[in-house]
Amino acid sequence: MKILRTIDDIKTYAKSQKDAGKTIGLVPTMGALHEGHLTLMRTAKENCDVVIASVFVNPVQFGPNEDYDAYPRQFEADCKKLESVNVDAVFHPEPSAMYPQGYCTYVNVEGDFTHKLCGGQRPGHFRGVATVVTKLMNLSRADKAFFGQKDAQQVVVIRRFVEDLNMNVEVNMVPIVREETGLARSSRNQYLSPAEKEAALVLSRSLQAAKIAFEAGQHSTSALKAIAIKTIQSEPNATIDYVEIYTYPGLEPIETVTEPVILALAVKIGSTRLIDNTIFGGK
Ligand code: PAF
Repeated sequence: MKILRTIDDIKTYAKSQKDAGKTIGLVPTMGALHEGHLTLMRTAKENCDVVIASVFVNPVQFGPNEDYDAYPRQFEADCKKLESVNVDAVFHPEPSAMYPQGYCTYVNVEGDFTHKLCGGQRPGHFRGVATVVTKLMNLSRADKAFFGQKDAQQVVVIRRFVEDLNMNVEVNMVPIVREETGLARSSRNQYLSPAEKEAALVLSRSLQAAKIAFEAGQHSTSALKAIAIKTIQSEPNATIDYVEIYTYPGLEPIETVTEPVILALAVKIGSTRLIDNTIFGGK
């Protein structure tokens, strides 16, 4: 696996692959890789000739009181995992290479949907995501890019700017990967103590409870939300940031489930903020 550290490294590598007629798959990550990421890599590998992963903790998508400094950085272990799924190259730049002195260009998706859910809780977050993903797509000359459904709102934002900016990248969303317990895989699970990991199961349990009620005929979104909230509130270590149901991918409010919807939640377990979601409904 090639390790690409500079802007020149990735440009040269991408050009060589394009010149050889290869299709390029991009899997952007912030590292601390887990099975969810490896599923993205495998999917990319199945769908493209060459896979470029990026491992970059992107400073501009973190708010001032968020976990940028604490975010786990374990590049050597990440490389071993990437090699185990036959990733062709990993891009691991310094922040100063991505945002050199004088840098002042940002991609800001302005739709209302960016102010809901995580966008409402984390001002500036999606501006940071859209900026770095645009740069990574340009640098890697990706034909296809792969993102996890756990960040389903992020996928809506990325699809929007790819379309608006006429970028020739196919954006693929890959289903959430869970531990056997139901806990969605996340790099931030590393922050949880064993007791908190147990408490964190309330996220997937609440999604499951709402989905079971939906399948039993409850189609009112406020009733389904109430079921999820009640389940979360049964866990003393959990504090709700948001629990919402919107249409998906439109992210519009809806009273009755008559089309696909997302039940999305962000919950703090101790001081760790976790997100999870399920998409259901429609034909
Ligand atoms: O989903 C993530 O890990 C990040 O938001 C991404 C897409 C790698 C951009 O930094």
